Amino acid sequence: MLGALQFGVLAASIVLFVPMGMAGWHLSRNKMLFFSGALFITLAVGVHLTPYFPSISDLVSSLSASVVLENRDSCVSFLHEIVWDVQPVRVSEFSSNSSNYEESWSWAQSTPVTACGFQKLGRSDASDLLNGSWIVVAGDSQARLVVLSLLNLVLDPEEMESIRGDLFKRHSDYKALIKGIGVRLDFIWAPYTRNLTELLMEFKHNRQYPDVLVMGSGLWHMLHITDAMDYGVSLRLMRRSLVSLLPISPDFGMDGPVTGSISIRSPHMFWLGMPTLVSSMLNTEEKREKMSSVMYDAYNSELYESKLLRQSGGPLLLLDIQSLSRNCGALCTVDGMHYDGVVYEAAIHIMLNALLIESQQQL
Ligand SMILES: *[C@@H]1O[C@H](CO)[C@@H](O)[C@H](O)[C@H]1NC(C)=O
Ligand SMILES: *[C@@H]1O[C@H](CO)[C@@H](O)[C@H](O)[C@H]1NC(C)=O
Ligand SMILES: *[C@@H]1O[C@H](CO)[C@@H](O)[C@H](O)[C@H]1NC(C)=O
Repeated sequence: MLGALQFGVLAASIVLFVPMGMAGWHLSRNKMLFFSGALFITLAVGVHLTPYFPSISDLVSSLSASVVLENRDSCVSFLHEIVWDVQPVRVSEFSSNSSNYEESWSWAQSTPVTACGFQKLGRSDASDLLNGSWIVVAGDSQARLVVLSLLNLVLDPEEMESIRGDLFKRHSDYKALIKGIGVRLDFIWAPYTRNLTELLMEFKHNRQYPDVLVMGSGLWHMLHITDAMDYGVSLRLMRRSLVSLLPISPDFGMDGPVTGSISIRSPHMFWLGMPTLVSSMLNTEEKREKMSSVMYDAYNSELYESKLLRQSGGPLLLLDIQSLSRNCGALCTVDGMHYDGVVYEAAIHIMLNALLIESQQQL
């Protein structure tokens, strides 16, 4: 008979060393899994060991990897549990930004969120994670702001200044090769869903797929076409071409021109949701009239009904800009539509943590 102490030590070793071993095995192939390993351990210890420690039989039964995986899966649903801190700051006459508020965010301190061990990655961790990958962000000005946040994270301020002009040429693509970390980052100006569908067909035609794909549309269509049903049709067409893209051949990513460290089987795909619109702040009469809350809701329900998103059985994980921007609040926007950098920064960190979780799941 094993005593309780030996059992505890054995169990703890399994929880600690099995994932470490797995991470170690992949480390040679894939350095990013180091982070996943760390996340895995945090999870295993946080979710299982602590609550179950007094009861050894529960502990043993909870040790199966599948249970841990299940929990990791549920971590994805906590990614948006973010709290905001928006404080007025003294207005400086030299302040170049229009915001007189100090805005910051962090993950909520509730038990499940803490157990998931989400982390804001710093420049070098983000660079390690993304090293060698091809990232495509396609959409309207919201997508451009996401690109800006991502660049802000991986570039130093001087490099950032030098590219700002190129990135903000209106209505044009922007392609960057970030040499230090071999990241290819493409912003594709694709204001309508149909533009996104064309992009997908282009990937298919060229048989080259990005490692990370972030897409979003809606605002442009709402303003210029103002027809939720038509938007729904375009989303369903897009879903069809997305599904025809998947699954991608198993050797994808292994012998292409870009061998991303996060490409394992298929691209990691995200949908960039529309921001919360603050009607009274929209800067033209046309916008205030056409982008009403009724129209906004109709567009969102078309999105859910199109089954593009994971939560309705689709392939795309939602980066929920609507909830992030709503919770940051009207103080975080000057035109009721484009929000301050923090909102998109939070979205980037949600995406990076989702990538950590997903890469681990694909083992
Ligand atoms: C705005 O400017 C102030 C001072 O220049 C700075 O501390 C603050 O972080 C800036 N806020 C944003 C959202 O860029
Ligand atoms: C990225 O990967 C390359 C090749 O594996 C390596 O030489 C380089 O140091 C890495 N850069 C960073 C920032 O991790
Ligand atoms: C996007 O799609 C619209 C409508 O199909 C088309 O008129 C426009 O040229 C496309 N724009 C780009 C950048 O592909």
